[in-house]
Amino acid sequence: MDHLMAIILAAGEGKRMKSKKTKILHEICGMPMVQWVYQSVKGAGVDEVVLVIGRNAEQVKECMGEKVSYAMQEKQLGTGHAVIMAQEFLQKKEGQVLILYGDMPLITSEAILSAVNYHKQNNNSVTIITSDFDDPSGYGRIVRDDHGNVLKIVEDRDASEEQKKIREINSGIYCFDINSLREGLKELDNKNDQGEYYLTDTIEIIIGKGKKAGAVKIMNKDELAGINDRVQLSCASQVLRKRILNKLMEDGVTIIDPDSTYIDQKAEIGMDTVIYPSTIIEGKTKIGEDCVIGPNCQILSSEIGNGVHIKNSVILESYIDEGAKVGPFAYLRPDSQIGKNVKIGDFVEVKKSTIGDGTKISHLSYVGDAQIGENVNLGCGVVVVNYDGKNKNKTIVGDNAFVGCNVNLVSPVEIKNGAYIAAGSTITEEVPENALAIARNKQVIKENWVTKKRHTKE
Ligand code: UD1
Ligand code: CA
Repeated sequence: MDHLMAIILAAGEGKRMKSKKTKILHEICGMPMVQWVYQSVKGAGVDEVVLVIGRNAEQVKECMGEKVSYAMQEKQLGTGHAVIMAQEFLQKKEGQVLILYGDMPLITSEAILSAVNYHKQNNNSVTIITSDFDDPSGYGRIVRDDHGNVLKIVEDRDASEEQKKIREINSGIYCFDINSLREGLKELDNKNDQGEYYLTDTIEIIIGKGKKAGAVKIMNKDELAGINDRVQLSCASQVLRKRILNKLMEDGVTIIDPDSTYIDQKAEIGMDTVIYPSTIIEGKTKIGEDCVIGPNCQILSSEIGNGVHIKNSVILESYIDEGAKVGPFAYLRPDSQIGKNVKIGDFVEVKKSTIGDGTKISHLSYVGDAQIGENVNLGCGVVVVNYDGKNKNKTIVGDNAFVGCNVNLVSPVEIKNGAYIAAGSTITEEVPENALAIARNKQVIKENWVTKKRHTKE
């Protein structure tokens, strides 16, 4: 098969973001901007991706890792110069190369693929993705002859008054035949208004060698939006968020109010699950079928089985098994493993704990660093006292145990299977299997104590 590679230009820092973070790493729906571009080129069948980076090199490498190759452009001497810096990756290769920018996250695989197909069908040496803009100012213009053949691209600042009237703009996305690009780059110079090496000049050079250039107009102009500041970042987020939600709805998820629902790209949600308003699902979260999530939930990097109900709750890096009910107002902190059909009720906080199948923790509890067995009942207000001021200690509660209301389990401690703990107890020692533990003062009654006290006052 024909080699199809991509070079993504991303050496610019993006000063208008006013950020310590380089522009292309700003996240949109849970994914860095440049990762969206990467995903779209991969989706179009690209088998090798080169990122041209500059002063942002360290940050970008840390984020994108080894799935892409890197070319360094120390000084930003223009888009042509940027591609020249990536030339080593073009050596001894046959096929096509796409060139795109790292700050255009809305471009889709479909649009890229249609350009590649057009390019191949027409046997072009280069194909430019273009669009007719009502306001083309600032963009390079596509200059065509009387027959509509592409002649060249002229930059806005180098354009004549006549050329400035052209509404067809250069998006900055191209598909080149690798050999033709190599030849074009060889002859590139920087004799223009800005003293930069313009990649756009390669078009005229390639045509000058008797080769064919073409342009394909994109259907959906929104896809060409470049992100330069945080306002544009939020606009792009809205577009991508809609795409994510629409895809989920197409796949059988009900989303009651898309306007107040935020779901990251990496999330997976099963059929017939219903998402209520004001819900945020972030990170690599996986939710099963027939779940009811929300309203007002935040779920981060968690795995949730089928038929789980979660209301008004925060779930972080946790696992919830089939049929469990969580909330309202529950807080599951990282490393919580909630078993099948468990009930985690209102104002319950769980941290780094395992809760066995069928267990109920219905109200006002804190469970930290604990291993709770199956079919246990933790009464209202049970607190696992996991921290002694120095260390976090472990609590174990066996299957079928019953822990009364307002009990403190002072860790490390173990309650064996089937044991009962009387309400209000502070448990510091192991409770044997099937035993009852009462660890509180006996009730004392002082008859007429109040009446007597009143008399002495008088
Ligand atoms: C470029 C095109 C213009 C097109 C427009 C679309 C050229 C000469 N002009 O103009 O025809 O209409 O894009 O947005 O190509 N970059 C580098 N290194 C550099 C210069 C740029 O990596 O030395 C990267 C930037 O990070 C940016 C992208 O290339 O993501 C585009 O650069 P920019 O300076 O914005 O190009 P324009 O002048 O807007
Ligand atoms: Ca630009």
